[in-house]
Amino acid sequence: MILTGAGVSAASGLDTFRGHGGLWKQFDAEACATATALYTDPLRVWKLISFMRRAARTAKPNPAHQAIAALEHRLSNEQSLTVATQNIDGLHQRAGSGNVIELHGRLSHTRCMSRRCSLEPFEDWELYETQVPRCERCGAPLRPDVVLFEELLPPDAYRATETAVQTCDLFLAVGTSCTVHPACDFVYEARDAGARTMLVNLEPPESTADAFDEIHLGPAEELLPLLLG
Ligand code: APR
Repeated sequence: MILTGAGVSAASGLDTFRGHGGLWKQFDAEACATATALYTDPLRVWKLISFMRRAARTAKPNPAHQAIAALEHRLSNEQSLTVATQNIDGLHQRAGSGNVIELHGRLSHTRCMSRRCSLEPFEDWELYETQVPRCERCGAPLRPDVVLFEELLPPDAYRATETAVQTCDLFLAVGTSCTVHPACDFVYEARDAGARTMLVNLEPPESTADAFDEIHLGPAEELLPLLLG
């Protein structure tokens, strides 16, 4: 399995969250990326989402995404590849990856905040920077179909990732600072379940270095095409 983070989309021109020029240096995560913020100041959440949608809707997959998609299509019948991504940009799917678990949701969709409403999440790349959009069915505010801080991961996504973590032979993490739970815990579970663990990242992880058998430092868009053949 491959766990990806924002670094895998850096070469597609999308900001990472931490490190040089990261989104959390441009936006206050506490004020615009938490479940609390969605209730206290939803327009601030929508301004961040609109900023990210403006960049992501025209972004193209880069050689890192393409190397992962190509690997999936080269596997034999006895092999499988699961991509569990923390990214919400949809670039793995656009590169041709089929088995993608979106741990943190998807920027491309909006949903109604009312749990009683029957409106399904719908594809929406609209920008909402002056007023909070409302559900056409029930009138409740709409929200982005992403996982904010203080929120649980989608249960199906979490369960599918746990299955891959427990059964994979190789756990490859790419372009992630390994700082956000529960995604950063998966490498320990995979190692304890007997997988070989590898990291491809621009810089060493702050705390999970001990969990990796191999660490390859460098840009994913250059290293992945080499490492994945
Ligand atoms: N190739 C490989 N790694 C890269 C590249 C690149 N071209 N560019 C940056 N990186 C690395 C950085 O060194 C950093 O360690 O990618 C990592 C990105 O880390 P973060 O910005 O923290 O992104 P991520 O790990 O995906 O964050 C996890 O945190 O804010 C939340 O929900 C958000 O999904 C996100 C989660």
